[in-house]
Amino acid sequence: MRVDIVSIFPAFFDVLDVSLIGKARDRGLLDIRVHDLRAWTHDRHRTVDDTPYGGGAGMVMKPEPWGEALDEILTPDALLIVPSPAGERFAQPLARALADEAHLVFACGRYEGIDQRVVDHFAATHRVRSISLGDYVLNGGEVAAMAMVEAVSRLVPGVVGNPESLVEESHESGLLEYPSYTKPATWRGHEVPPVLLSGNHGEIARWRREQSVARTRMHRPDLLD
Ligand code: ADE
Repeated sequence: MRVDIVSIFPAFFDVLDVSLIGKARDRGLLDIRVHDLRAWTHDRHRTVDDTPYGGGAGMVMKPEPWGEALDEILTPDALLIVPSPAGERFAQPLARALADEAHLVFACGRYEGIDQRVVDHFAATHRVRSISLGDYVLNGGEVAAMAMVEAVSRLVPGVVGNPESLVEESHESGLLEYPSYTKPATWRGHEVPPVLLSGNHGEIARWRREQSVARTRMHRPDLLD
């Protein structure tokens, strides 16, 4: 999968060199390219923002650098993703859909967002999705893009070593994941639930399922509706 990320803070993405994603890049499973939006400015100050038409607080990202950057980066089949608190909500089903794409391009806005004409313009030739990480406001799209890149990358075949570990996770079944334990069997007086030491796989599966339902009822009753 190819992923291009455009931002005025490319350093946000330096950590994509480490851990599973770093390894997947080294192995050629992920081709991630990070670009500085200011490379497509032409003035001495490398200006990327201006005051909003109609007034109001904050600054809006100018369309020209975005237009030139995306003209250069978008391939015909690319999906353009604009992280925004005003977008559709990101969740595991969307992560799975994005993992099937060949080329994702993230346009990370700052300030009050990107001039709307950028989305309108590229929507005429490309698929464009505005996606929100959740109902809160970040300083820009970088952290949201990072979360989406991680959630999507680990679903790309080969990125996670043991694909079975993807199956039982929170949100894959529509429920939250059951609690996990490892050795020692007693720690600071806390015992591992005895069923997990029983060797009875049917009982263990039933117990885990009950725990998943109980956790979901407690923390996310909306998922049970
Ligand atoms: N940019 C600012 N806040 C955001 C959010 N919640 N999701 C995606 N992008 C954002």
